[in-house]
Formats: sequence, C-alpha cells, structure tokens
Amino acid sequence: MSLLITNIKLLAGINSEGKIKLSGKEMASVESIENAFLLLKGDLISDFGKMDEKKISNLKSNISDLKEINVTGRLVLPSFCDSHTHLVYASPREQEFTDRIKGMTYQEIAQRGGGILNSVKKLREASEEELFRSAMNRLNEIMMQGTGAVEIKSGYGLNTENELKILRVIKLLKENHPLTIKATFLGAHAVPSEFKDNKKKYIDLIIKELIPQVAAEKLADYCDVFCENGYFTKEESISILEAAKKYGMIPKLHAEQLSHSGGIEAGVETGAISVDHLEYCSDNDIALLKKSNVMPTILPGAQFFLQLQHPPARKMIDAGLPLAIASDYNPGSCPSGNMNSMIALACIQYKMTPEEAINAATLNSAFAMGKSETHGSITIGKKANIFITKEIPSVAYLPYSFGSNLIETVILNGKIEVRG
Ligand code: NIG
Ligand code: FE
Repeated sequence: MSLLITNIKLLAGINSEGKIKLSGKEMASVESIENAFLLLKGDLISDFGKMDEKKISNLKSNISDLKEINVTGRLVLPSFCDSHTHLVYASPREQEFTDRIKGMTYQEIAQRGGGILNSVKKLREASEEELFRSAMNRLNEIMMQGTGAVEIKSGYGLNTENELKILRVIKLLKENHPLTIKATFLGAHAVPSEFKDNKKKYIDLIIKELIPQVAAEKLADYCDVFCENGYFTKEESISILEAAKKYGMIPKLHAEQLSHSGGIEAGVETGAISVDHLEYCSDNDIALLKKSNVMPTILPGAQFFLQLQHPPARKMIDAGLPLAIASDYNPGSCPSGNMNSMIALACIQYKMTPEEAINAATLNSAFAMGKSETHGSITIGKKANIFITKEIPSVAYLPYSFGSNLIETVILNGKIEVRG
C-alpha cells in the first residue's frame, strides 16, 4: 500500500544531504518544507516536496493502491528514536520516589538494597509472559507519544538465567511490535547481592559465561556497563566491553551520571557507539569526545527526576560536538518514555533550542542506536516512521507545550498505527 500525505503545513526533519549525524552548529536548524506532501510506499519514504497540483494528480493517477490523507494545519516529523531505555521490568518503584522526596538520595536507597537491586529481585520472580505483557503496554504507550525506534537493555537479571530471560523477552518484543527495537546486554548494571563481597567473581561470570551465551543466542547488539563509583570502575568497564567486542557486541556506557568515574574515557578507548548521562562530563572529556566517533547522549528525564546537576549540553554543542537525547525509561530514575517531555526538559533546563533538541532526539539518537542510515529523518529510502501532529503553529510549539500530547497520527513501517 502507498500513503500520500497532502497539505502538510510543515514537513520537518528532512535530511536531504543524507548526513548520519549532526554536530555543533549543524544542530541549530531543522530542515523543513512548508505546504508539503509526503509519499510513503510500502514501508519506505518514497518522495516528498512542495504541494504542486500537477505533481499530486500525477501521483494519484500513476499509483494504483494509493490512500490519501489530507493533514491541513498539521506538522509531519520523523518519529523519535529513543536510544536508551530499560523498559522491560517487573514493578514500579514509587516508594523510592517518596523516600527521595523525604530526603534520601538515590545512592542511599541503593545501599540499603533498593534501587537497581530492588528491580532485580522483582524481575527474578516474574515470568517471561508477565514481563512481555507489561513491556508491550509500555511500547504501545511510547508509540503513541511519537517514538518509532527504541533500544532496550537487560540489567535487571544479573545472573545467567535471568539476563537471558530479559533478553529473550526483548527478542519477542522485536518480533511482535511495529517499533524498531535494538537490544543491549547490561549484565554489568550492578553487582548482585550474592556477589557483594566478590565483584571480581561476578565480572568473571559476565566475561566467561554471560557474554558467550548472550552471543550464542544472538540476543544483543550492544553491551553496556554502569561505570560509576560503587558499581564498575573504568578499568572493569573496559575489560567487560573488550570481551563483548570479541563476540560482536558494540560498547555503550552509562557514564559520569553521579560522579566523574572515567566512563567517557572508557567509551572513547573502546570505540563505544554512545556514552550516556554525562552530568559530570569534564572539559577534558569534551576534548576526548571531539576526537572520537562516540555519540554523547543526555538523558534529561533521569537528571530531572533525580535532581542531579545538569550535563554541560550547551558547552558540548558549542564545542562542535553532536548530542543525542534519549529517555532512560526505567522504574528507578525515569519512569517515563515520553520523548517530547525529554526534549522539553533539555530546552528548559540546558538551554538547547527546540531545533537542537529535535535533531538530538531524531537523527542523532538514531545514530546512538546504529540506525541513522534508515531512521531519524525524512529522507527518500528511509523507513516510513513518522508522526503527524495536531494543528500546531511550529516545531518550537512541541517542547513549549511540554505537558500536552500533540501527536494525532502515528505511522510506522508505512502503516497507520494510531489515528487521532
Ligand atoms: O540509567 N544509572 C543506572 N541505571 C539506570 C537506573 C536504573 C534503576 O534505577 O533501576 C539509569 O539511570
Ligand atoms: Fe540507563
């Protein structure tokens, strides 16, 4: 089937030069066409341009199975790409939210066995079916909020049986949901309580048993490590990521979230595709990133939810770096996968412009999950993953109107999934 979308007030997020990421000043503008049409054929973007009566009537008479959608007054954008989530989990953690309001820190909650280890306990008790069902609901929720591609991490199993269980659930999600999904093995998310006095032994288990088994079942595209004080050091992160690379998994890192721990250095040294969080990113880190191909990725929802210090987003873009935005959707530090809220937070808190934030949440976040050749922009030949807004005046209205759902129609793989 082909879909012809006509009378688009603004077709935004075009990438006519086929760039795979946008850096520094390139992020300042969102390439757009006013009063446009967009043609989707099968699951791909086939054509777009200015509305032109002759062109439109030619398309209509030459394509047999064509359905037209007239979207007068509405904007069309490429779907958001969310390159960092932990959205397969067993239970929410609103008690910890209340504990933090009363004064405890994220680290104090973790030290008393809460935090990540709380989610590990719950996930180990849950069946694959339960995990699959709740994660499908979350995927449907983020699809309606405009996300078209998502990366999902393991990391709440922390032993062979349960890390494989969560990764098999991610594989099932991939086979059953129209969102494009990438999987990441995060066995090094925390040291499980049964290894609390022997971290070295747990790292050995990750390297000698978990990584080979995950690879044997082809369950993960990426390997991630929480490089942080009290979790995994820079050196430990490097040894885990180097082991994963031998099995074809590409490194990613949770870096510089709660303190400066060397995660960015580990990412640059191991050739990671992205380093994520970056609240404690230093000037030296910015210089290192400049010489690399690593995509710096900020997670404004987690920074906001835990009230951490701001990542130096403005400084990074002004230094000429690319920057991606993802949600970190998880039960502890960001119980939301709403990418429009993430771009709003980035604009309001870090003084990114709406255009910079939209580029960060589309093409650059597609790069951070190895998908920028096929996703993240309106480009002929790319996946037909787009959303159509309600009647709104401009792209800046999206982050401006931070609490509203402005998305009316979602099209994934050329098919209408949500119609307002
Ligand atoms: O990205 N920082 C480490 N991991 C997650 C939090 C996971 C959790 O609290 O369950 C994050 O913020
Ligand atoms: Fe995370």
